[in-house]
Amino acid sequence: MEKAGLRLEVDGAVATVTLDRPERRNAMTFDTWRGLAAIGRTLPADVRVVVLRGAGPSFSAGIDLGMFSGGGEGFADGADAEGTDRFIAELQEGYTWLRRPDIVTVAAVHGHAIGAGFQLALACDIRVAADDAKFCMKEPALGLVPDLTGTKPLVEIVGIGRALELCLTARTVLAEEAARLGLAEIVVPRDGLDGAVRDLVAALLAVNPGAAVATKRLLWEAADNTLEEQCAAERREQIGRLREMFGR
Ligand code: CAA
Repeated sequence: MEKAGLRLEVDGAVATVTLDRPERRNAMTFDTWRGLAAIGRTLPADVRVVVLRGAGPSFSAGIDLGMFSGGGEGFADGADAEGTDRFIAELQEGYTWLRRPDIVTVAAVHGHAIGAGFQLALACDIRVAADDAKFCMKEPALGLVPDLTGTKPLVEIVGIGRALELCLTARTVLAEEAARLGLAEIVVPRDGLDGAVRDLVAALLAVNPGAAVATKRLLWEAADNTLEEQCAAERREQIGRLREMFGR
């Protein structure tokens, strides 16, 4: 975890993952993304809420730019398309588990959330931002595309026009605009971030665990389902709930 620049604390039903390279503004390496994937794979079964936060002045400055020096040695160069596809898929696993229905994931964002850092916040279910938060999808400015699962939630949250404008200008979105665009559910003063996250976590844990899992599954399905499919999904989930609550 230390090599990955990550710290994991598990306290009963709550796991806190801290991006922990403050001297590099929590810049992330391949080890960071593999470490995140490992956390997802080994999370204790009784964890219900996962909080992601950054140590120091920023949530994350994105990919460690040091990895680009020396001509990008260590990167798959794309010549072997299948190998590169597998390589990126492995890194994406660091992000995809955050959408799992058995947990609710909360990004506590302060300072910069750039590139891979912005995408990490987008991979979480709920974003709580400090009023100094700054989001930027920097990848196109560096000649790359955002490939750590961020494009789908970005378009779903802000719409295609705004997503294009944000990505193709690589401009920075401040906390107030992030709240307006739906990129942050809650914005609080910087010194109130930890307290706001604590309150949110307490509220999430107060809800029936089975209902929370079923409802998250249902809500994530909604965007891709027709009304008919979604109505059927609601019935299916409710039957499960009723069986659990009243079944003999
Ligand atoms: N990679 C490596 N080191 C980084 C870093 C990064 N992404 N971001 C910051 N650092 C280092 C700085 O080099 C600096 O190191 P030294 O103390 O040795 O000089 C240290 O962290 C502190 O940085 P700053 O002095 O710049 O701190 P700041 O608070 O004034 O600024 C910042 C913070 C706005 C994040 C600025 O550091 C910055 O712009 N960083 C680069 C951001 C970036 O372009 N990230 C890549 C995004 S693209 C992506 O993530 C995905 C992809 O696939 C390409």
